[in-house]
Amino acid sequence: MVAKSRDSNSRLGDNAAPISYKIKFVTDFETFKFLGDEEIQISIKKGTKSIKLNSNNLKLLGATVTSKGKSQECKITYDEKGKAVSLAVKTPVSGACALSIKFSGINNDDMYGFYRSEYKGKDGKTKYLLTTQFEPADARAAFPCFDEPAFKAKFDITLVVPKEMQAISNMPIKSVKAMGRNKEVEFYTTPKMSSYLLYLGVGQFDKVSSASGRLKFNVYATPGKAPLCRMALSYAKKFVAFYEKYFGINYPLPKVDLIAIPDFAAGAMENWGAITFREVAILGSEKGSAISAKQQIAITIAHELAHQWFGDLVTMEWWNDLWLNESFATFMSYRSVNAVFPKWKMDKQYFDEVIATAFSADALKTTHPISVDVHTPEEINEIFDEISYEKGGTVLHMLEDYSTPKVFREGLHNYLRQHSYSNATKYDLWGAIRDAAKKSSPQRASQIKAFADKWLDYTGYPIVISQRIGSTLKLRQVRFVVSNISGSNPSKPWPIMLKYTEGGSDPEAVFMDKSEMDLKLRTSGMVKLNYGQDYLYRVKYDSDTLQGIGSAIKAGKINGVDAWGVEDDLFTLARGGAIKANEYMKFIGDYCMDADYPANIGINWHLFWLESKLYDTDMLGGIKQLELEFGRRTIERLGWAKRANEENTDTMLRGLAIEALGRLGDGKAISFAKEKMEQRISGNEIDPNIRSAVYYTYAWNGGSAEFRALSGLYLKESNPEEKRRLLQAFGSFTSESVIKEALAFSMSKGVRLQDSFVIPTVLSSNPKALEYIPAWTYSQWKTLMERYDIGTHMLQRFVDNFSSCYKISDYNKLKAFFSKKQNLRGDVKKSLAQALEKIETNIKFRKANSLDA
Ligand code: BES
Ligand code: ZN
Repeated sequence: MVAKSRDSNSRLGDNAAPISYKIKFVTDFETFKFLGDEEIQISIKKGTKSIKLNSNNLKLLGATVTSKGKSQECKITYDEKGKAVSLAVKTPVSGACALSIKFSGINNDDMYGFYRSEYKGKDGKTKYLLTTQFEPADARAAFPCFDEPAFKAKFDITLVVPKEMQAISNMPIKSVKAMGRNKEVEFYTTPKMSSYLLYLGVGQFDKVSSASGRLKFNVYATPGKAPLCRMALSYAKKFVAFYEKYFGINYPLPKVDLIAIPDFAAGAMENWGAITFREVAILGSEKGSAISAKQQIAITIAHELAHQWFGDLVTMEWWNDLWLNESFATFMSYRSVNAVFPKWKMDKQYFDEVIATAFSADALKTTHPISVDVHTPEEINEIFDEISYEKGGTVLHMLEDYSTPKVFREGLHNYLRQHSYSNATKYDLWGAIRDAAKKSSPQRASQIKAFADKWLDYTGYPIVISQRIGSTLKLRQVRFVVSNISGSNPSKPWPIMLKYTEGGSDPEAVFMDKSEMDLKLRTSGMVKLNYGQDYLYRVKYDSDTLQGIGSAIKAGKINGVDAWGVEDDLFTLARGGAIKANEYMKFIGDYCMDADYPANIGINWHLFWLESKLYDTDMLGGIKQLELEFGRRTIERLGWAKRANEENTDTMLRGLAIEALGRLGDGKAISFAKEKMEQRISGNEIDPNIRSAVYYTYAWNGGSAEFRALSGLYLKESNPEEKRRLLQAFGSFTSESVIKEALAFSMSKGVRLQDSFVIPTVLSSNPKALEYIPAWTYSQWKTLMERYDIGTHMLQRFVDNFSSCYKISDYNKLKAFFSKKQNLRGDVKKSLAQALEKIETNIKFRKANSLDA
């Protein structure tokens, strides 16, 4: 991927650099046209007659540059494609200069730049708020600027807003002056920071606040939602305290604002001191929210708070190190939530949520190394993906283990100290970890860079093929590509810390950095490799060893995480066609029916995957039987209702089991769901942890009457979490006519643009609905392009939906449809390539099981 055409014109160069910005924005809620007045202090190295800045969709009303007491009017030349503007003067300028620019722009409704978001007020009327989304390259859509992360500068922001509204920015308010119907709100100067982290917010918010030592915490939401803000407030305080201690560095600003925005393209954004969220990612309550929703909220808040240090205080030099930001926040969010809420067992969820995602995304031929060159905003946008987030997070997990947690933490502390208010590259991080390691282990210290670089530069990850011969394990590593498992030898083997136990004894570790290795065993006991599943490799065992491992899982001698690894590897081998689906099912049936978390969650999803890929075959009966048995045993063990003090992983598993049973036609589950749904419709509370399962079962077994009931509930619901659950339920209808109604509903006014991908996405994993998705997507493509082909990543999701298809005709049509399309965004093209590869793998899977000729 990326960087076919190195477009050096898309960069600003390093001759001019900003030192500080003083910007006043005058907002207007009638016209949504804003006026800006900015003064940028810049420093110019070499005398020049032209200064280039980034600017997009802005009108420059005038610009002057002042140098050594002399002002010159600038000639303004727009470079629309390059999203830049050049300011030219007659006499060259150099050294310290001041740039004054007056400009205007529009508060669009496209969820990027300085945009507007809409909601219904308490009086039922439509209201607006203004907010910003600048990452990666849209600060330039709000003000002319040096919009690259290394151009750190101080910002003095003033917002002129209607007097009944609040204004929010990165720093606290310094002064407020009345100005007729408006007021002028001035903020304190920010520390040196990157433009993509600047924030502007204007609206009539409800807020809850609390002080904690020197810090002030505020959570903002649209009116009426204050009760749903308190949980986030208490979480945020706890995570900031955790990070201050873990990093050994105080939160750098005077306040932490968390702002819930009704229209939001991503999940959340780490603007320094003024973090924005999609409502569903922050609003909830201790009593009213499902445990899974609370965890998602906690993880999102913890992720964005981690960025306040890692990303905001210390920023990547350039976007090729984006992974440093995102993988670190991903990794750290699980760490901090696990430390603050140990009962949630996020350390275990890390496996099925982060490592599993890395495993599957990086098993494609179309994957890419973590380190990639990017130049244009389009290329930068492409790398906000599972490789930067989840694979990067897994690499940090390995690096922590490899360098030891103590050294890793000390290295982070030093890295953050050395580069505060400045920028850094991955090499700075390796250096800091190496230096921290020197004291305790000079030998390991010298290997850290090589270890990390290989994981960042190599494409994919390995599978270790293990063959036991007497007391020797013959090990061989090759790159793991799901569609081509017999695969090739890697030209360069990955560095793996091979941890294993012999017959349940204490784990041992050997370093494998060669393609082949013999491992001498001490005993004849069972050997499970990748002990603790801390490293990113799969294992294929000889069949005797595998049976031994199975027996140990069944006897409870292998924990949930290691069982998860064995199961995930085996399933993926089946998925790629290297073993028969029946072999996988037999292993599950023989050994794993009572496996612990997270293995049980993996099994649940994988059996459903088999069900949906084999829906029209005579293997379906056997799969359903296994799923039914798995679900029934789960419910037998856990009961239908939540028990006091049960493990939260069991609470979540119960919901999934009821959902599976309801789909498979289990009478008890269906009547349970029906009864609960009647309670819900008549206005009684039901346990939030089973609501998704109840709505799912209701829709799966329902028709157009149920569709009407659900849409009635959806349209009048105001709680974002409940609204999301109801919306997902529309993806579970089974008759053609209702499926089509649900698809139409997804594009209707009642569903916000930010949520319109939900129904089609759920339908694409619904085996009874999948066949309608391709034709619907083609028929809507023009509209979808118009609605989404803006600054966001949403269009991608409609292409991802094709990944579930398994017919050659679908593959051919998809390829043909897009081959005629010009001007696809890079991230959409990438999703297309991945969807095609996944369909190809699905076709191969069915062939391997002799289902299609
Ligand atoms: N920096 C991102 C937000 C972002 C994403 C900006 C894509 C521009 C393009 C933020 O820190 C983030 O990663 N948000 C996640 C949520 C998180 C809990 C994984 C998101 O939006 O999905
Ligand atoms: Zn992030």
